Amino acid sequence: MSRLIIVSNRVPPPRERANLAGGLAVALREALAGRDALWFGWSGSNHAPEAPARVTRIGRLGFATIDLPPVDFAGYYRGFSNGMLWPLLHHRMGLAEFRREDLAAYRRVNETFAAALTPLLRPGDLVWVHDYHLIPLGAGLRRRGFAGRIGFFLHVPFPPRAIFGALPQGEGLVADLGAYDVIGVQTREDVANLDEVLAAVGLTVRAGCYPIGIDPEAFAAEARAAAAGPEGERLRSSLGDRALILGVDRLDYSKGIPHRFRGFAQLLKRFPEHRNRVTLLQVAPVSRGDVAQYRALRRELDELVGRINGEHAEFDWVPLRYLTQTVPRATLAGFQRIASIGLVTPLRDGMNLVAKEFVAAQDPDHPGALVLSRFAGAAAALDGAILVNPHDPDETAEALHIALTMPEAERRARWERMWQEVRRHTAASWARSFLASLDVAAARAA
Ligand code: ADP
Ligand code: F6P
Repeated sequence: MSRLIIVSNRVPPPRERANLAGGLAVALREALAGRDALWFGWSGSNHAPEAPARVTRIGRLGFATIDLPPVDFAGYYRGFSNGMLWPLLHHRMGLAEFRREDLAAYRRVNETFAAALTPLLRPGDLVWVHDYHLIPLGAGLRRRGFAGRIGFFLHVPFPPRAIFGALPQGEGLVADLGAYDVIGVQTREDVANLDEVLAAVGLTVRAGCYPIGIDPEAFAAEARAAAAGPEGERLRSSLGDRALILGVDRLDYSKGIPHRFRGFAQLLKRFPEHRNRVTLLQVAPVSRGDVAQYRALRRELDELVGRINGEHAEFDWVPLRYLTQTVPRATLAGFQRIASIGLVTPLRDGMNLVAKEFVAAQDPDHPGALVLSRFAGAAAALDGAILVNPHDPDETAEALHIALTMPEAERRARWERMWQEVRRHTAASWARSFLASLDVAAARAA
């Protein structure tokens, strides 16, 4: 079996390496098991000058990381990746800020990655590059002579050509995509958008749809244990007999958190029977807090939460609980099991794993209902969710009312459908099917 090289901006931090605990690592666990593999990325450190990658090893899996100079990192991560590409790819051109020096830093960092990775590569390796931070990496590896298979997976949406076309020097990035043998995205809509952009410059590399999933059984077990644990007990006793509506996100404008709060406020206004009967708990730890648009969102939410609670709270009830500190993942899994409603309202999201985790966390005998934005990639498959357009707070309020009053038999039937789906398309099956495509691509090229 070929050696697998994973490349992503972040690599699992040392404490998570032995059991591959965090985000992408969970998804790749099975693909990395039982073969030689190397995971390459940024060390998390910005103060050192460029140096060769530091390699550590756990069994057959190696981790190679490089430091990045602070100025390059700022332009690459804060500037071009998260100040320009993130809003653009999430269809939010109005929030994007382009600076030529950021694009230059983005390209420099991708070159630094390519230069540091190349000496570690062997001819038969299978290279899998992840996400929008690293679009030009494949081309950098090709220029340095790597002729093996390289795949690219975009975890976030790809917008229509009319939006992508607004990106200054965007043609250069599209051309860079031509270096990959397979390009994976989350939904058919993303495939169609990307195909159109690629075809416009005559590129024949075709995008495929590989919806990412979770490890459903492990998440369900975690949720069961945590719901019965001390934090679960504390949450339940704080709720009394009120129903819990739960939101779990990074503090990111793509997640539609203000829209969600306005929808909840509309519920309390238009369906007063739920007053003092429900609590919305929103856990939203600060993310990318040094990017201007994220700081603006935080200020907006601070004000909105104060206003909604000021307007609707009663002396013995605070309708909206809002946390910007992190809560351990296992504790959150327990909270999801306790919740009657999962409220997931991104304005645009590649997949949204929280929606799938909510489904996995439910008690099969008394499952909660999922209110889900139709603009999340997950909406394409989770047909048991109550879908909403999050831009309309009244629609969210109506969906919440439907969810809160839904007969148990219907909730069970809807959940059953979603659970089947979450078990069918898992993290492991996602990685398997992408890597299978990459293998086939190689066979064709040989
Ligand atoms: P994104 O990749 O944009 O953050 P996803 O919903 O696809 O969004 O994935 C987020 C992952 O991070 C999930 O596994 C989720 O459990 C975790 N996560 C999201 N929000 C929080 C939070 N507030 N606290 C802890 N973990 C979170
Ligand atoms: O899923 C999109 C993504 O950008 C990942 O690539 C990333 O690791 C995650 O969100 C969290 O963002 P960040 O790495 O900027 O903290």
